[in-house]
Amino acid sequence: MLGKNTGSLSGKRIILGISAGIAAYKCAELTRRLIEQGAKVRVVMTDSAKEFISPLTMQALSGHPVSEHLFDPAAEASMGHIELAKWADLVLIAPATADILARITAGMGNDLLTTLCLATQAPIAVAPAMNQQMYQAVATQENLATLTRRGYLIWGPAYGEQACGDIGPGRMLEASGLLSCVETHFSKKDLTEISFLLTAGPTQEAIDPVRYLTNKSSGRMGYAIAQAAAQRGAKVTLISGPVALETPENVFRIDVESAEEMHAAVQTHAKDHEIFIACAAVADFKAADIATQKVKKKESLNEITLTLIKNPDIVASVASMTKNRPFTVGFAAETQHLEAHAQKKRIQKNLDLICANDVSRNDQGFNSHQNALHLYWDTGNKPLPLNDKTELAKQLINEIITLYKKAK
Ligand code: C5P
Repeated sequence: MLGKNTGSLSGKRIILGISAGIAAYKCAELTRRLIEQGAKVRVVMTDSAKEFISPLTMQALSGHPVSEHLFDPAAEASMGHIELAKWADLVLIAPATADILARITAGMGNDLLTTLCLATQAPIAVAPAMNQQMYQAVATQENLATLTRRGYLIWGPAYGEQACGDIGPGRMLEASGLLSCVETHFSKKDLTEISFLLTAGPTQEAIDPVRYLTNKSSGRMGYAIAQAAAQRGAKVTLISGPVALETPENVFRIDVESAEEMHAAVQTHAKDHEIFIACAAVADFKAADIATQKVKKKESLNEITLTLIKNPDIVASVASMTKNRPFTVGFAAETQHLEAHAQKKRIQKNLDLICANDVSRNDQGFNSHQNALHLYWDTGNKPLPLNDKTELAKQLINEIITLYKKAK
């Protein structure tokens, strides 16, 4: 668990402004995650927001009474609205409904939240959340364009299914997505000169139009590494197999299905990146022949034989580049003899660094949110103990950068 003084948002003062959207329920998780990272959070709610989430919940999670009214003697006695506006390092309005966006754009100060926006010198971020038609309405788009011009940060919305059943843009980013935006906002951008190429997720090797071979992989580790690098200002290209994950902010994502496609995309981009991290669980084999029609069951047939041929080793092909070879990092998922297998792989594939993880444990690895790694390079090794994949990814980026700078 992170301490308040060690989190990525240690000491950062954030006003979380909640307006009346169904996505307000995500603010409970968001507040918890912000505080876990060491932020101090004060919650301000509009009157109607209380219909969606209770001030008591937000008070319990933030550790402070929720500010609700402009003329509230009790609230003004503890921290008046001008004091609150001056206190903040960031004001985040989430969810930001069409109504609050319109009122802020018009410069109104008819409740505490809009008044704070006028009175603060802190950056203001909004996380739009509304029906897709309302989001695409000319008035809303013009308001967002105006706010962007004024320097407001617009985080989201995501595209997808909405509470009303519509599908389109207007879903508020998840708590994890907003946390990442806040972290990016505050993080030092010390990797702007370095570019990363990553592979992540599984590959799918078609057998026929409806069947495929694949590996167990959620893609979370690779996506977390991409996010950690992008948050520090690095240019990041992520070549991804099929996964159910949102693309991290400021990451350029290329979707592929098969190992051949992943290999081709990596070949195209490797020479333009300083660091290559192969996180993907690439299928070692593919079907020798892909049937053009669905293979039918036959009553008389209890067995079929599938001929498999080897896929290209993507990370080894990058590590063997003779010109513009990136610093190359691989992973080794092992169920036993972790060090011996990882070291053998590092040497065979000519990697600068290998990150070994023990996938025999069910509290870490493939589909878990947590992982532990042991890093091996030619002159040393280092364990990175069990942690959330997002935290582990930040530590891994630190280690990679140190070794990359030494190797340069
Ligand atoms: O040989 P093995 O699959 O265990 O090696 C794992 C490492 O090699 C990972 O970094 C993985 O992304 C990479 N790899 C690859 N192409 C393959 C197989 C593995 O890039 N065909």
